[in-house]
Amino acid sequence: MVLRWIVLFVCVCAAVRGIPRHSVRKFPEGFLFGTATASYQIEGAWNADGKSENIWDRMTHTRPDHIKDSSNGDIADNSYYLYKRDVQMMRELGLDFYRFSVSWTRILPSSFPDRINEAGVNYYNNLIDELLKYNIQPMLTLYHWDLPQKLQDMGGWTNPEIVTWFADYARVIYTLFGDRVKYFITINEPYQICNSGYGIDSLAPALNSKGIGEYMCAKNLLLAHAKAYRIYDEEFRSTQKGNIFISFSAQWYEPASDSVADLEAAHDANQFNWAQYTWPIYSETGDFPPEMRKRIAAKSAEQGFPRSRLPEFTHEEIEFLRGTSDFFGLNHYSSYYIHRNGSIPVHEVPSYADDLGVGSYSLPEWQLGASNITKYVPWGFRKLLNRIKDDYKNPPVFITENGVATHGGIMDDDRVQYYREYLGALLDALDDGCDVRGYTAWSLMDNFEWTSGYTESFGLYEVNFDSIYRTRSPRKSAYVYKEVLRSRQLDHHYEPDLTRPITIDPGH
Ligand code: BGC
Repeated sequence: MVLRWIVLFVCVCAAVRGIPRHSVRKFPEGFLFGTATASYQIEGAWNADGKSENIWDRMTHTRPDHIKDSSNGDIADNSYYLYKRDVQMMRELGLDFYRFSVSWTRILPSSFPDRINEAGVNYYNNLIDELLKYNIQPMLTLYHWDLPQKLQDMGGWTNPEIVTWFADYARVIYTLFGDRVKYFITINEPYQICNSGYGIDSLAPALNSKGIGEYMCAKNLLLAHAKAYRIYDEEFRSTQKGNIFISFSAQWYEPASDSVADLEAAHDANQFNWAQYTWPIYSETGDFPPEMRKRIAAKSAEQGFPRSRLPEFTHEEIEFLRGTSDFFGLNHYSSYYIHRNGSIPVHEVPSYADDLGVGSYSLPEWQLGASNITKYVPWGFRKLLNRIKDDYKNPPVFITENGVATHGGIMDDDRVQYYREYLGALLDALDDGCDVRGYTAWSLMDNFEWTSGYTESFGLYEVNFDSIYRTRSPRKSAYVYKEVLRSRQLDHHYEPDLTRPITIDPGH
């Protein structure tokens, strides 16, 4: 009886305040929240204390025209010196974990483990210790795109030796930091590394080796990841007791119509764009997806190649790859409509685009914020999570990136809307039975947004890049995210009081 009165009272209060009951939804017990950054995007100190050159240093210094505002990451957010302020912001938000990446050339200036750079090690030790002091779990990405230039000069990810180079580097990282780091991510976004870095003229090293380079990269990268996973599993896990996984960039590709051709095209787009990297690890059969192997083999034969441009894995390699991830790390930003389209310009053949043979478009109302690569389609996120559940027997998923860019400014209602609706879609996916364990907002603060330079702002905190202090200020979205973390629920109607400073709650 008393309970009924309490429920009635709560409902009346909610109605009086105009809050529909269903607008407040709880996250499950143990669900983790964090934010993410990456070394090249925030650290700066590009040549300080013994760090050597990586492929982003080289590209921004030699091809500034390739970056929208001709900028670079030489100073970026200056986090190499300002990491304590970064951790203070994480405490303000009340984070469970912080995802950051290690710069390979800061730890191993020669690229190899012949000499470990003490200053670089100190920097990451200080950061990790500062996080742990406040109960924030470090989540360390070993590779977020900043390959040593010296390794690139020897072919980078197209050289099969990279499997050994990366394994050596991984062993150094586990040895140095694994006593305190319990979440390791081997590699961030294979698709961007291989397809945007080797297949087209976009991300560093911008090789533009169409239809060849991206596939060589994909094979070596997957094997390098698997080797790093197995080293952790066999040599470190029993003492360090951590988790290790890989993060994929996966967008959702929806058929543009119910026609058989479009259904098949959308299926292929999902299989090529992200399952290319996830199928070998999580599927029953392993290997590259069958649709991909078939299409590329047929195209290659038509084009007069003696064998498929998609390299083969041996039986041993297929088995070596399968099962090498404790979670499915998912970076998600957008969705597209897909239709079949075979007409790729002759000078673009052979290419990945031609191999896939689809056209894509998005709707004008999906454009939210400043970036062309992010689209506001929360239902696509839910569909993608369900597809992962169905294709791979419901693996535990960690959302390792999700977010949207604005043109700057503290009142970022666009970002608030994006986060609310994507978190809502995530809750829907949990209701559907998807096993999602955590969520990471990209990004803690504005930073060097690759070829877009500083023209796109992804941060919960705004950074003043005109100031030598790189002052950080919380946006409205920081207040809203903080409230989600504090209450462990999603309240679509919560309005923060921005006249009050964001403060650190007791216990953080
Ligand atoms: C990358 C981040 C990047 C973000 C926004 C992801 O693909 O991992 O480094 O800043 O997208 O574009």
